[in-house]
Amino acid sequence: MTASTRESLVPLCAADEVWEGAIKLALLPGGRRVALYQVDGEYFATDDTCTHGEASLSEDGSIEGHYVQCAWHNGSFDIRTGEACAMPCSVALRTWPLRIVDGQVFVDMGDAP
Ligand code: FES
Repeated sequence: MTASTRESLVPLCAADEVWEGAIKLALLPGGRRVALYQVDGEYFATDDTCTHGEASLSEDGSIEGHYVQCAWHNGSFDIRTGEACAMPCSVALRTWPLRIVDGQVFVDMGDAP
């Protein structure tokens, strides 16, 4: 890990707080809400807010495999890519790269605004 990479890593929570089958809310610096998922020991993060109607996926979503379904209107997204997979969702969710270091989940903010 280079120094510049390390500087862009922001700690979110302990890895063991992200349970398979559940969706954990985390906040980025500045308060942006992200949803954290764990599937088969791999960790993923997307924006928490559904792109269709402002639902919180950590509050009103459910996860099955690599797909998160929004309970408001049953749209869904692939958590690996953010791709919208079921109508009425047609706009992708933003995804965030994660790193697991010493049992801690970090988001790599890169040059994100
Ligand atoms: S608000 Fe999520 S599918 Fe409509």
